[in-house]
Amino acid sequence: MKTQYYTASSLDGFIATEDDSLEWLFPLANLEDSSYPEFIAEVGALAMGSSTYEWMVRNAAKIAAETGSLWPYTQPAWVFTSRTLSAIEGADIRFVKGDVHPVHEEMRAAAGTKNIWIVGGGDLAGQFHDAGLLDELIVQIGSVTLGRGKQLFPRRVLSPILRLTSVRQMGAGMVELRYEVGK
Ligand SMILES: NC(=O)c1ccc[n+]([C@@H]2O[C@H](COP(=O)([O-])OP(=O)(O)OC[C@H]3O[C@@H](n4cnc5c(N)ncnc54)[C@H](OP(=O)(O)O)[C@@H]3O)[C@@H](O)[C@H]2O)c1
Repeated sequence: MKTQYYTASSLDGFIATEDDSLEWLFPLANLEDSSYPEFIAEVGALAMGSSTYEWMVRNAAKIAAETGSLWPYTQPAWVFTSRTLSAIEGADIRFVKGDVHPVHEEMRAAAGTKNIWIVGGGDLAGQFHDAGLLDELIVQIGSVTLGRGKQLFPRRVLSPILRLTSVRQMGAGMVELRYEVGK
């Protein structure tokens, strides 16, 4: 069982624009041709921050048109927020706040032998890293730059370095890099 931060980023290290748009990403990526189907099949629990969750709420109609459901995940999900947010109907969601340790314990229990996916954003993945709970970063780097936006991973990781374990090119528009987090 691994705790994985799996995400897509621009070449200059942003996962969304400052106003939370992902429009830059869609022309680059075809989920079915990516590692996503294989990846998600091994996920037993997932966590995200409130901006990511609110993006999904705002785009629920688009998600439903693509996946057949307002909420695309069958796994239990934990949404970090200090506010009171409404749940999406039919979604298996818990709203949580604060320390990631007890949440990770709950997620582990729910995931069993499967992996835990930190969906984003970058600071939430950083909180799991700070707590020594992140095992792997899997980043699809798109062949675009955004200049500004929401950071991929706002942390300084110098030693031990992240260990590059695989590189996979997906045409001219993307490359997937996998890193193990040194402990
Ligand atoms: N490119 C990709 O593949 C990809 C993947 C994931 C996300 N995204 C996008 O990237 C953007 C990420 O936004 P973001 O960087 O703002 O990150 P985010 O993690 O989605 O949201 C950050 C917010 O979550 C809440 N939060 C985080 N940690 C918390 C904690 N420990 N306790 C309580 N609340 C906590 C806080 O808001 P409140 O307390 O105010 O609620 C915080 O401001 C979104 O637009 C998302 O759609 C892109």
